[in-house]
Amino acid sequence: MRVLDIQSSPRRESSDSSKLTKAFLESCLHYGSSIVVDTLNVRDEHLPEFDYGAIGAKYKAIKNEAMTEMETKVWDQIQSLIQRFQKADCIVLGTPMWNFGLPYKLKQLIDLVAQRNFLFSYDGKQYCPLLNVGKAVVVYTRGSRFLERYSHPTFAI
Ligand SMILES: Cc1cc2nc3c(=O)[nH]c(=O)nc-3n(C[C@H](O)[C@H](O)[C@H](O)COP(=O)(O)O)c2cc1C
Repeated sequence: MRVLDIQSSPRRESSDSSKLTKAFLESCLHYGSSIVVDTLNVRDEHLPEFDYGAIGAKYKAIKNEAMTEMETKVWDQIQSLIQRFQKADCIVLGTPMWNFGLPYKLKQLIDLVAQRNFLFSYDGKQYCPLLNVGKAVVVYTRGSRFLERYSHPTFAI
C-alpha cells in the first residue's frame, strides 16, 4: 500500500502533528502492513506559487488551450504533485491550527493540486472524486481549548 504522508508544520521534530502521524504510520508497520510512505512536507517541497501563470495554466488545461512557456513550466510542477496523490492508496495528513485555519503552505498545496479532471471531475452539475484513495487519516492539533458556550458572546442592551 502506498501512503502519501502530508506534513504541514514547519516545526520539524518538535511538531505535535508530525509526531502523531509518525506514530500512526509506525503502528501500521508494527501490525504488519506493507506500506511505502511518500512524505510530502509542504515546507521542504518548494511549492510553486499559485500565481498568474498557475491560474492561467489551470483554466487553459480545463479548456484544452495552448499554454505559454511560463504556464507549461508551472503546470509540469503541478502535474508532479498531482501524480503523488494519484499513486496513493491512502493519505495521512497532519496539520496544526493556525489562526483558526490551516497553515498557508498547506492551503497553497490544496490550491495547486485541486485540479478539475485530475483530482475531481465536474460536469456543470456535480462534482465527483477521481482519486483511488479509500481512506484518509487527518490529525489536527491546536493549542487552545474550544469552549462552545464562550464562543458566541451575547450582548445585553
Ligand atoms: C502561527 C500560529 C497560529 C496558531 N493559531 C492557533 C489557533 O488559532 N488556535 C489554536 O488553538 N492554536 C493555535 N496555534 C497553536 C498550534 O495549533 C499548536 O501549538 C499545535 O499543536 C502546533 O502543531 P505542530 O506542533 O504540529 O506545529 C497556533 C500556532 C502558530 C505557530
